[in-house]
Amino acid sequence: MFETPTSTKQHDESRQGEALLLENDSKKSNGRKLYIESYGCQMNFSDSEIVASILLDKGFETTRDYKEADVVFINTCSIRENAEQRVRNRLKEFESAKAKNPGMVVGVLGCMAERLKSKFLEEEKLVDVVVGPDAYRDLPNLIEQVDEGSRAVNVLLSREETYADISPVRLNTNGVTAFISIMRGCDNMCSFCVVPFTRGRERSRDPQSIVKEATDLFNAGYREVTLLGQNVDSYNYETINFANLLEKVARVNPLLRVRFSTSHPKDITDEVLHTLARYENICKYIHLPVQSGNSRVLNLMNRTYDREWYMERVSAIRRIIPECGISTDVITGFCSETEEEHLETLSMMDYVKYDFAYMFAYSERPGTLAAKRYADDIPEEVKKRRLTEVVNRQREHSLERLQTYVGKTHKVLIEGLSKRSDNDYCGRNDQNSMVVFPKDDRYKVGDYVNVYAEKCTSATLIGKIID
Ligand code: SAH
Ligand code: SF4
Ligand code: F3S
Repeated sequence: MFETPTSTKQHDESRQGEALLLENDSKKSNGRKLYIESYGCQMNFSDSEIVASILLDKGFETTRDYKEADVVFINTCSIRENAEQRVRNRLKEFESAKAKNPGMVVGVLGCMAERLKSKFLEEEKLVDVVVGPDAYRDLPNLIEQVDEGSRAVNVLLSREETYADISPVRLNTNGVTAFISIMRGCDNMCSFCVVPFTRGRERSRDPQSIVKEATDLFNAGYREVTLLGQNVDSYNYETINFANLLEKVARVNPLLRVRFSTSHPKDITDEVLHTLARYENICKYIHLPVQSGNSRVLNLMNRTYDREWYMERVSAIRRIIPECGISTDVITGFCSETEEEHLETLSMMDYVKYDFAYMFAYSERPGTLAAKRYADDIPEEVKKRRLTEVVNRQREHSLERLQTYVGKTHKVLIEGLSKRSDNDYCGRNDQNSMVVFPKDDRYKVGDYVNVYAEKCTSATLIGKIID
C-alpha cells in the first residue's frame, strides 16, 4: 500500500485506481467497449474524462468491467516509484483477459507513458499503444493503427494543447462536485519532481471556455467546481491572472461553490487572498504544499521560497481570511536531510496546524534534477521513521483543528449518503472538512444545509441540520 494511511480525500495522488462508468449516450455506437482506469492526481482523472469524450465521439461505449472491454486504457502516474509499480502490477492482471480476447487493445496513457515512451512497448509485451498527456486527440487514429496490426506511440508534448473545446464526459460523478482543468504542465522544476518532464510546459486555458464549463455544470445541477492546475497561482491568459479567473468563476452563480488546487507558496498573492475574502462562494480553504520546513532543504528542492517566506504567506492567509482551512504536502528524507532539518518540518507543522496533509517518503525519480545532482542518501528506514513522525503529528493537528469546528454551525453542500450509513448524509464545510449528519427528507443531494457540529472523530465532523 501507499505511505499515506490518513489520506482519502479528493487530491490524493495515491488513491486506488478505479473503473470509470460512462452512461450510454445518444452518439451512434460502433459496437466496441472502452474501459478506463485512472491513477495519480486529479488532473489525470480529469484527463480520463477528456479521453472518454474523444472516444465517445467515435462511438465507443464504456464498461465497468475490463474483461468485457475491447479497449482497455490505464491512465498512469509517475510521481513516486510505488505509483509506477502499482500500474505494472495492474497490467499483469490484464494479461489473462487479453489472452482470452486477443483483439483487445491495451493502452497506457498519462505520465508513465510520457516518461517511458516506446520503452514501454519493450518492457510490457501486452501493451499495444502508448499515449502521452498532450496526444489524446490522436487516440482514434492510434487505435486504428493497432487494429491494422501495428503497435502505436504518440508522446509528443505540446506548448498549446489545453483541450479547451472538449466537453469532458463526467465519469463516476456524484452529480454535485466536478473538476475543471484550468492549465496544464509545469514550469517550476522542483528538483524532486517528475511532472515537468511528463506534462511539459505550463500553459493556461482560455478563461471563456473555463467559465462556460462552470456555467454548463451549474445548469446541469452541479454546485461545486474545483479549478485544477499544478500551480494555479501562475495562471495567466492574456490579461487575466488567477485572481481575475477566480472572480469570473465565482460570478457564474452565488450557489456555485468554487475551490482550487494547487497553490504554490512562491506565487500565491494577496490579491488572490482578498478575492477569497470577498466572495462568499469561494471556499475558505487553501492547499499550500510546504514539502519541508527547512530553508536549506527547500533550496535543494528548488522550491524558490524559504521557511520565513512560507510562514509569512501563512500569516497573510490568517490575517486576510481568519477562518481559512490550510492543508499541505510533506516529503520526508529528501537528499541529505539531517535530523535537525526534519525537526524543522515538524515545527513548521506546529506553527501552521494544518487541517490536513499528504505525506510522502522521498522517492528518487529518474531524470529529475535531484537524481542527477544529489545522492539519495537517507536510508529507507530513516525516511519511513520520519514519515511516521510527520503522520502522527498531523493526526494530532487534524483532530485539534476539527475540535475548533465543534460547537459551531457550518454551511455544508450535501454530496451524497455517508459511506457508513444510508441514514446519514455527508458533505463538506467551507474548510473542506467532511461533515456527516442524519438524513432529512426535506433536503436532497446538491442542497446547502446548516449543520451544527456536535462532535468529531479524527477526520470527520458529526452533527445535525439546524433550520
Ligand atoms: N504541483 C504541486 C505538487 C504536485 S505532486 C505542488 O507544487 O505542490 C504532489 C506531491 O507529491 C508533491 O507536493 C510532493 O509532496 C509529492 N512528490 C512529488 N515528487 C515526489 C517524489 N519524488 N518523492 C516523494 N514525493 C513526491
Ligand atoms: Fe512538481 Fe514543483 Fe511543478 Fe509541483 S510545482 S508539479 S512539485 S515541479
Ligand atoms: Fe502523477 Fe502525473 Fe499527476 S506524475 S501526480 S499523474 S501529473
